[in-house]
Amino acid sequence: MITNIGTIIAEKLEGKDVALRGWVYRLRGSGNMMFIVMRDPSGIIQIAIKKDKVPEKDWKDANDAYVESSFTVTGRVKKDDRAPGGFEIEATEFELISRGDPFPISKDLSDEFLLDVRHLWLRSQKMTSIMKARHHIVNYLREFLDEKEGFYEIAPPIITKSGCEGGSTLFEMQYFGEKAYLTQSSQMYAEVFVFSLGKVYVFAPSFRAEKSRTIRHLAEYWHLEPEMAFYDYKMNMDLQESMVEYVAQNMVKNHSHLLKACGREPEDLAKVKGPFPRMEYKNAVVKVNELGGKMSHGEDFGADEEALLTKELDKPLFVYKYPKAIKAFYMKEDPSNPEYVLNNDLLGPRGHGEIIGGSERIWHLDELLERMKEQNLKEADYKWYVDLRRYGSVPHSGFGLGVERVVKWMLNLDHIRDAIPFPRTINRVYP
Ligand code: 4AD
Repeated sequence: MITNIGTIIAEKLEGKDVALRGWVYRLRGSGNMMFIVMRDPSGIIQIAIKKDKVPEKDWKDANDAYVESSFTVTGRVKKDDRAPGGFEIEATEFELISRGDPFPISKDLSDEFLLDVRHLWLRSQKMTSIMKARHHIVNYLREFLDEKEGFYEIAPPIITKSGCEGGSTLFEMQYFGEKAYLTQSSQMYAEVFVFSLGKVYVFAPSFRAEKSRTIRHLAEYWHLEPEMAFYDYKMNMDLQESMVEYVAQNMVKNHSHLLKACGREPEDLAKVKGPFPRMEYKNAVVKVNELGGKMSHGEDFGADEEALLTKELDKPLFVYKYPKAIKAFYMKEDPSNPEYVLNNDLLGPRGHGEIIGGSERIWHLDELLERMKEQNLKEADYKWYVDLRRYGSVPHSGFGLGVERVVKWMLNLDHIRDAIPFPRTINRVYP
């Protein structure tokens, strides 16, 4: 019976004859005995190959194998408490599918080298666990929006004529002789659909020409951007809170082994339940200074300030109502104090940094035109976006969640680059 390693362990197939296909994870041999730790997509298991229990050719194949050679094996499942997973296979047949060349990755290689051979390093147990966990995190985000909240997913363009998050991080490109940009955010296109579909989201890459080398910035990242008709900034925060709680709780309930394999204690994530603390920007600035940081009102929080605000927290922190002067043009003014906007950032606990940015949007034509003028934006560049306020406009809100930021936080990774298979950063666009 062709099976996989996960099934042998989960169903405790002791005494059964099985056939497996996979790759050499580790190997050692002595005299008439070889041990190959095998991996397949579902796990790892030890294979014991005795010279006198397999045909001569199979014994030769086993001795020829390298780390990462691919092979098939047939044998009987034995219980072995010392083996990883608690079972071992006693081989009766072993055949190489592809011996290949000696694998270039061994122990103690530099981060840079591992990034150069990323296409191979992605086979490691660490990256395999992270990629599985990322898949589940993305699935729960979608499941929350699709099934719990009745959102529609829409498809935005990636090539655009203008950005919405400031010119300095736009990637410029030539589009048949015309200047165009890779999208910084699909928010403006999501806004189009609140007037027809009500609650929508985009799940797509965003591009930022970030000049900074940090553990939380990518030049290309996956961006989840919900946009909702008739939501104010408080309903917006409530939705973000429920969504993040939903993902964290489902990861704990259904994937605690994966969380552990990635370096996150499930009990930590179990504490991520609403309500999350909420703090106005102006109070957050006072708090930063009280905690020994140094910042003035009107400045944005850097990584150090965010770390101060969240270092004791088990769950994310909302900081809301930032000064208008440091935020994007589309954010609605706070009617009770026009120096501020009805926005929020959501900061991951213990210094993981901003994972979500959102706001109530300006929905009145005059207010939008005035703000664009203040920020020196040309109406001609945003004509279609302005049009949305010209015909049957309604209040609406939305937010953007950086998938890799969430993965980094939930899996407790040291660096955002491990939250995505092929990281794009200021000094890396290969492989
Ligand atoms: O705060 P940002 O720039 O907001 C927007 O783009 C809005 N238009 C979103 C919206 O309301 N629809 O980015 C939103 C999120 C951040 O909170 C962060 O999680 C992530 O996108 N992000 C990045 N992730 C990785 N690398 C970068 N360079 C990122 N820049 C932003």
